[in-house]
Amino acid sequence: MQLTKEAFGNDFVWGVSTAAYQIEGAHQHEGKGSSIWDVFVQKKNKIFQNHKGDIACDFYNRYVEDLHLMHRMHIKNYRFSIGWSRIIPDGTGEINKKGIDFYNRLIDLSLELGITPWITLYHWDLPYALELRGGWVNREVKDWFGDYVGICVKHFGDRVKNWMVLNEPTVFSAAGYFFGVHAPGKTGLENFLATAHHASLAQAYGGKIIKSLQQDSRVGTTFSCSYVEPFSARDKDVRAAKKADVLLNRLFIEPLLGLGYPTTEIKALKRIERYMQQHDEADLRFDMDFIGLQNYTREVIRYSMFVPYLQAKIVTAKERKVPMTAMNWEVYPESIYHILKKFSAYKNIPPLMITENGAAFPDQVLGGEVHDPQRLSYLQDALQQVHRAKQEGVQVDGYFVWTFLDNFEWAEGYYPRFGLVHVDFQSQERIVKSSGHWYADFLQDE
Ligand code: NOJ
Repeated sequence: MQLTKEAFGNDFVWGVSTAAYQIEGAHQHEGKGSSIWDVFVQKKNKIFQNHKGDIACDFYNRYVEDLHLMHRMHIKNYRFSIGWSRIIPDGTGEINKKGIDFYNRLIDLSLELGITPWITLYHWDLPYALELRGGWVNREVKDWFGDYVGICVKHFGDRVKNWMVLNEPTVFSAAGYFFGVHAPGKTGLENFLATAHHASLAQAYGGKIIKSLQQDSRVGTTFSCSYVEPFSARDKDVRAAKKADVLLNRLFIEPLLGLGYPTTEIKALKRIERYMQQHDEADLRFDMDFIGLQNYTREVIRYSMFVPYLQAKIVTAKERKVPMTAMNWEVYPESIYHILKKFSAYKNIPPLMITENGAAFPDQVLGGEVHDPQRLSYLQDALQQVHRAKQEGVQVDGYFVWTFLDNFEWAEGYYPRFGLVHVDFQSQERIVKSSGHWYADFLQDE
């Protein structure tokens, strides 16, 4: 069956997502301060081929053409993030007016072109000055973040109504503070638990600040999530899968919903209580207007006695010999259906939005064109699955493709290409891929 956008209803929000560090470049331009990512990419052998986001898609200088392209592709909602250190170079204190001006121009032009802005307040680029004061491991980050959120709402809230407080706290706390493979490269259980708790506090606090300053705002936050299945029906594997589910899907949403931290399955998680003070349990809670879900694949989990704290490990797509993307993730668009069902089963869950979904494949430019049939069918299949969940009564109100432009994919550098639009990182030429043409046609009004 050919899906049309009308099948999702007239109010369904269709868009694309990006993030500041992944596209903007201009890393030292016009008063911007350094972020933990500006510093992390300088270290040897942390990033694929030591790539850096110094220039990335040069969006800072090319946003005018890029927004016009978005407009020509009939994209009416644009989710982007604010670079905290671009507008407050030291994280707290003095404001960089030129940084504010940039986002003002971006917002104004979007609106002029009929594109609604959706702002992510934190997409992983903590000001480095704050990292020097302990970063997310320091509880004061909640107040630093709160002040920054207030500044964003005061400067942009006259035109922007849609906000997302955090981007994927699970990923930035685990990759950045437990495994050390993302900025700032910290490791260990204690750094992870402190970060997780402070991020949870900041998530609720950020939401409260936005609402207090702008009553008619639409406030959400975004979670990474994967459909988790046990490798076998053996008890050990089933238990391992439950633990992985806690980390991949439950850790951040449950305290937000007032359910507290899910500490029963994983003993080590109990230690998060050490970071809690009186009233924290209540302060972790906030009624979001929507929850953003970001799904790419499923994870198959089996028991392993060698993995500390978890005794669980991922059975990779390679090991299972199933089709995979350039991220080595299984091509499994059905995951999004299961995830929507799972999250919608929480009592009192606000409406859901898919704030990221997409796939990286090794694209090639041939005769000035990029044919990406695998991405195209991934997106079409995923949309079928979103529609299936919606038909079954799940309240899902929007869908944003990750991502508009090929960009800097964190530790993987520029190698994985997720864009609807191909970017030549030498010449900065943009070419709309077949998937981009398809999305444009899909979104075009009759
Ligand atoms: C999640 C992150 O929010 C985004 O920054 C990243 O590029 C995509 N997933 C793909 O990995």
